[in-house]
Amino acid sequence: MQDRTKLPFGTPVVGVLGAGQLARMMYESAISLGIAFRVFANDENESAAQVCADKTLGNLQDIESVLKFARSVDVITLDHELVPSETLESLVQNGIKVFPSPAAVQYAANKGLMRQELAKLEYPMPKWLLAENLEQARNFFTKFGSKIIAKSPTGGYDGRGVWGINTESELESLIFPVLLEEKVKFVRELSAVVVRSTHNQAVSYPVVETIQSNGICTQVIAPALDLDAERAGAAQAMALRIADDLDVVGVLAVELFDTGSGELLVNELAMRPHNSAHWTQDGSVTSQFENHLRAVLDLPLGSPEMVSQFAVMGNIIGGQHEDLHRGLLHCLARDPKLHIHLYGKEVREGRKVGHVNAIGDNLEDLIFRVTHAVDFLAGTIDE
Ligand SMILES: Nc1ncnc2c1ncn2[C@@H]1O[C@H](COP(=O)(O)OP(=O)(O)OP(=O)(O)O)[C@@H](O)[C@H]1O
Ligand SMILES: [Mg+2]
Repeated sequence: MQDRTKLPFGTPVVGVLGAGQLARMMYESAISLGIAFRVFANDENESAAQVCADKTLGNLQDIESVLKFARSVDVITLDHELVPSETLESLVQNGIKVFPSPAAVQYAANKGLMRQELAKLEYPMPKWLLAENLEQARNFFTKFGSKIIAKSPTGGYDGRGVWGINTESELESLIFPVLLEEKVKFVRELSAVVVRSTHNQAVSYPVVETIQSNGICTQVIAPALDLDAERAGAAQAMALRIADDLDVVGVLAVELFDTGSGELLVNELAMRPHNSAHWTQDGSVTSQFENHLRAVLDLPLGSPEMVSQFAVMGNIIGGQHEDLHRGLLHCLARDPKLHIHLYGKEVREGRKVGHVNAIGDNLEDLIFRVTHAVDFLAGTIDE
């Protein structure tokens, strides 16, 4: 660990638990703001650990080593929500500033707790049940005419831990407790991303449309098309209210189902920079990564305004093609206005390894260019 006393006087030090691509992209913003940035990584090959000079290798279950790391920084924040709650709680008990707090993070880390809390607060959601046993699951299945989704309350991401249930016998393979939800017939999925600082300043990015394939986000369109100002404003207001109700500090993403009848239902929450706002790196005045750092350090937040009429983000999902850099040559030569972000991750099937942003005022053209680059880099097309 770098010696703090050698840093220029007054330099804030942020520590991140987890060293994936979100930490890596936060680090880019930390560099430009002159913030010292430390990551607690599991492995030196993780996305942020590769680039961050100041890294500690360890296990997030090992409370003592996380505590030692945390004592070397001004504030702890998170790269992902899988940090054990015992670890986060013990940091707080030891007087460490943790943002978002463990009390808030539990609602992003545990979908069952999230449903219970948001139900208490009367937010609109799909019908749900935290089933404790097979009998309860069968009743729910019967009630919803066999159109249900089962979710592992904890540990899921990118659609892992989410299963469509079509026959009653499939219920038998579930591990209880399990979150069951009606399968919503949405017309599209939206995401409302807000950032809230420790003293309650908040900003809201434009509401975006997210496109999923097999439960994994593939494309984001900012702003969501044909969302009238009233409904967009209502979605933003709801996200701001949730941030306040749950006392979230940093980025809060509220994933929403647009049912087409004017109703927006909350799917789930994320409390860290979120894939649905990666477009902000190139498409807004202040990116979500910079605003997340500003929020946890209680600095004034930057403008979330867009710098162009539209922004499109496409995720590069790993396939058979291992060499991402070979594709760069073609993509960079063909389209000098693209913004390509690669995470330094080894390509594996179904894994997010980078994304492409494009901004401008011709949406069709942006979608075409982003889709081409993503497919070319992932190796699903070769011209
Ligand atoms: N109740 C539901 N009705 C219909 N579709 C759903 C429902 N819940 C989830 N889905 C679909 O599955 C996708 C993944 O679900 P969810 O967002 O809960 O899982 P996740 O793996 O935690 O996602 P993330 O990658 O955002 O962390 C959703 O984006 C949506 O397309
Ligand atoms: Mg999701």
